Parts: sequence; structure tokens; C-alpha cells
Amino acid sequence: MKHWNTRYPKRYDLDSDGDYLKWRDEKLAAYPRNISELVVELGDMTAITNTEKAKIFETVELANMCIFSAGSAELSMNSLLDLGKQLGVADTDKSSRHSKSDELTDSGILNRAIPFTTRHVRWHTDATYYGSDKTIQALFLLCKRPAVEGGSNKVLDNEILYILLRDKDPEALKVLMNKDCFKYKNPNTGEISEQLGGKVFWTNMDGHLCHRFSFRKMDMAWSEDNDVIAARDVLESLILDESEYVIEGRLESGLGLISNNVQHTREKLVDSDDAAKKRLLFRARFYDRVNPQA
Ligand SMILES: [Fe+2]
Repeated sequence: MKHWNTRYPKRYDLDSDGDYLKWRDEKLAAYPRNISELVVELGDMTAITNTEKAKIFETVELANMCIFSAGSAELSMNSLLDLGKQLGVADTDKSSRHSKSDELTDSGILNRAIPFTTRHVRWHTDATYYGSDKTIQALFLLCKRPAVEGGSNKVLDNEILYILLRDKDPEALKVLMNKDCFKYKNPNTGEISEQLGGKVFWTNMDGHLCHRFSFRKMDMAWSEDNDVIAARDVLESLILDESEYVIEGRLESGLGLISNNVQHTREKLVDSDDAAKKRLLFRARFYDRVNPQA
């Protein structure tokens, strides 16, 4: 373990560079450059060993995520929730969502919302609609059936994005860390929820970085303040540049993702016509974070 959170507690403080620069160099040097470095093989995801758990925490500390193999466990939502509990995350948003909204498949639910189709999903973190005071910090996926073709994900650690932005335009980052940048907008009525707003980057009580962003506009009302517009432009162009730190991979059957709600895409896919063979991923989202120092 690197113990960055205790060694460099001021790495997200925009008024001091000392911790930031040391952490930045270590983080970039240690960052996994291909998908194989993210993989942690588990014998049974519902009963992980101490060694497996340590390897998960070690990889999550480096990249804010890891890929795991389910091992002998059943490929189900319960297995995914069991894995979360073993890693200290259990506070899901499930009770407030459509009962099928955590089965990612071409079901056409929620007015054919894009996750439930075969279309390309642009860069985003999950669940931007909660506001930054109660946010989804962890996102887990488990693949039961992949698509016939396509359906891979690109992923980018939010901490890497923070570094790229701080090096390129610290003033833009300052705006995104301090101002209410967007609010939730009801896509059906256009009504804006004042209480579901907040920042784009911020730190939680334990000093870890939180982030929320999406290119999706339908349920987001961005601030029209000039500094927010300019900062958002810088952030969007950085994301679209797809730096060398972007990793792409496809979750095959029995593979899953553990992440602290990192930025991701889903590439377009071709699905089976047979409903029983369609791509199916289970998804769990948590208000808690996978804390490498737990
Ligand atoms: Fe997503």
C-alpha cells in the first residue's frame, strides 16, 4: 500500500503544492497502463480471502478501481452486494430506484433511457442526479452475459483527471471545486431542483476525492456563470482528448468492476435477438466508498 491519504493529506488543497506534487509524481508512476494490471482473480467473490482483499485495496488505491473475476460464485446481484459488504460498502441507492434499473440490459425501461439500450453512452460518472452532498461514491458491475459484439467500457480514474486538470488549468479546477456548477433538472417537466445541486470535484470527510460529471444534458442544468462555462469547457475538452491514462476493456461473463464511481463510457454494442441471450450486467451503486485504508 502507498498510504497516500495519510502521507499527503493536502494533495487536493489548491492553496499548497507540496503534497500535491509529491503525490502526483508517485500516482502517475504507479498508475496501471493496461487492463491486465487492474485484474484481481477471486476464488469466490462472496467469500474473499484476506490476500484477495488486500490485492483489491492495493489496486483500488492505485487506480480507484479494479477488475475482478467472480470465481465459483453465482453471477447475480446478491453476489455483487456480498462483495460490497466484504469491502465495507453496503449503503446502496436501490430502494429509491426502479426495481430493474440495476440490470443493465436492452430492456427499454425508463423511457428507453440510454443504459437500457444498445447505444453508445458518453463519458460520465453514475448518478449525477443526487447532488454533491449525498453522492454515489462507489460503482460495481458484474457481467453475466456480454454482447454478441461490442459493449466495452472505457474508464478513467477521477484522480488522474484531477491531476490533468490541475496541471493544465488550476483556475478552472478551483471553480469546479468551489461553485455549485449544476443542478438536477427533471427531464420530463424541466423543473430544476435547487437542493440537488453542487460541485464537480470535492473531498469527502476522509479526505478522498469525489467527482460527478456527465455529457448527458437532459437531466442537468449547468450554471450559466461565465467562470463555470469556461471551466466546464476545459474539463470537457480534457475528457474528450482521451489521455494515455484511459483504459478500455470488455467485461466478459464472470468479470466485474469495483470502482469509486470513476468516469466511464459504454461503447455501442450488437445484441442477440433472443431475450434470454441479451447482454446483462448487474450494477450496484453505493453512497460509501471503497476505502483502501479500511
Ligand atoms: Fe454508467
